Amino acid sequence: MSFMKRILLASTVAVSFAGAASAADLTVGFSQIGSESGWRAAETSVSKIEAKKRGIDLKIADAQQKQENQIKAIRSFVAQGVDAIFVAPVVATGWDTVLTEAKEAKIPVILLDRTIETANDDIYLTAVTSDTVHEGKVAGDWLAKTVAGKPCNVVELQGTVGSSPAINRKKGFEQGIASASNIKITRSQTGDFTRAKGKEVMEGFLKAENGGKNICALYAHNDDMAVGAIQAIKEAGLKPGKDILVVSVDAVPDIFKAMSEGEANATVELTPNMAGPAFDALKAYKESGKAPPKWIQTESKLYTQADDPKKVYEEKKGLGY
Ligand code: AHR
Repeated sequence: MSFMKRILLASTVAVSFAGAASAADLTVGFSQIGSESGWRAAETSVSKIEAKKRGIDLKIADAQQKQENQIKAIRSFVAQGVDAIFVAPVVATGWDTVLTEAKEAKIPVILLDRTIETANDDIYLTAVTSDTVHEGKVAGDWLAKTVAGKPCNVVELQGTVGSSPAINRKKGFEQGIASASNIKITRSQTGDFTRAKGKEVMEGFLKAENGGKNICALYAHNDDMAVGAIQAIKEAGLKPGKDILVVSVDAVPDIFKAMSEGEANATVELTPNMAGPAFDALKAYKESGKAPPKWIQTESKLYTQADDPKKVYEEKKGLGY
């Protein structure tokens, strides 16, 4: 099924569900991380669309990448007495106090796209996320299969330090290449999930690795960093996708453009629609009082150059990310 058809089908399901029991009276506060990547911008716009479809009043607070801003926003949502709070936690730790405050105010909290580390998972209702360890493993498996036993030095661009996808995508990739002794991660540094830092850090990797001649593959924890790094590889006089293989995560339109031009090799899709399933879980919870499962998992799909990236780019580019 095409990406557009899947979005339309999801919308149809959501609309009929909303018709069965209106959520029009709900006000939800969403503490969003910021706009570090194309994927993040898409998540914000899809959240607005999904809220509008259901008649939910969604208040979005942009934390500009800072946990302290997220904590302030959550406290402000508690003070306003919203019906629920969505949080995309910038880092995994440090949430116990503020989420306990929300719980004491009887405001359910739903985590979107990132998870937290806590000894008390009663402080949130559910988490709508992908399996980020699996995403990394899919990328590692793809590389192991692609290089098929040939020696391969990998440079890794990590996401935001301390964030759950950075921790898990690293772990998963290491699992994916664990049985391939020919593959070694020779350099690994954060690019903070941004295109600009991805480029800057890749420039350093290229300089340190004989102008890039010692690098066989780049693994980036998101597509934006990969796109920045592709630019750095080209400026160093090498061919991304050929001289240096490129594998990343998110499946944003720009990586399909790069794949269709032969400059990137593979990406693992992360849906930007985290809010839709979260709204549905919240409504069902409000209606029945029955807690949803602790983890609502979204799909992860590998795309390679064999998946007609030009066609996928054409389908996705109009979606605004
Ligand atoms: O939490 C999801 C990650 O955050 C996305 O993979 C990345 O692009 C974003 O910044």
